[in-house]
Amino acid sequence: MESRTRLILDRETLARRVAELGAQLSRDYRGLDPVFVGILKGAFIFLADLVRALEFPVEVDFVRAASYGAGTESSGVIRVTKEVELPLAGRHVLLVEDIVDMGLTLDFLRRHLAAKEPASLKICCLIDKRERRQVEVPLDYVGFVVPGGFLVGYGLDCGEKLRTLPEVYAVDTGGGD
Ligand code: PRP
Repeated sequence: MESRTRLILDRETLARRVAELGAQLSRDYRGLDPVFVGILKGAFIFLADLVRALEFPVEVDFVRAASYGAGTESSGVIRVTKEVELPLAGRHVLLVEDIVDMGLTLDFLRRHLAAKEPASLKICCLIDKRERRQVEVPLDYVGFVVPGGFLVGYGLDCGEKLRTLPEVYAVDTGGGD
């Protein structure tokens, strides 16, 4: 890949913000026995750090959605490829996402999980990237607002590469996002 990378979020910045979110979520969900649902694959690192920043244990599950179509442009048609396994009816559910880009994935999954009739359903995302937003989704907890760029690391991939970098970088691929 012909590219240049630029550090966007270093380890200390990520750790500090995750700790803050953990403290906030600990206040908001204390006594509610919540279920945190991570959106695969990207959220797995953020979710792992977030649940360990909480002051009490929570239940964890995962869901995965994919959009039809190839490349970075979504077709807008999304389907669930890995369903949540815990029963969510009557539970306080927090949907945990790494990045919101166009908003299509989260908009779809929010409706999908809402249909399971949880007692509450909120969203926590690490990165709110607003540049290409097509659908406004209510984001209850946001780690960072980033204007744009193709981001990798801390769960975010580029063609399945670079997910495991401990920092977040912007990759200049020489042609849009
Ligand atoms: C990425 C990211 C979000 C979604 C955001 O996932 O993790 O789930 O895209 O895009 P949107 O707001 O434009 O819908 P991706 O589909 O790349 O899968 P991955 O998490 O397995 O990398």
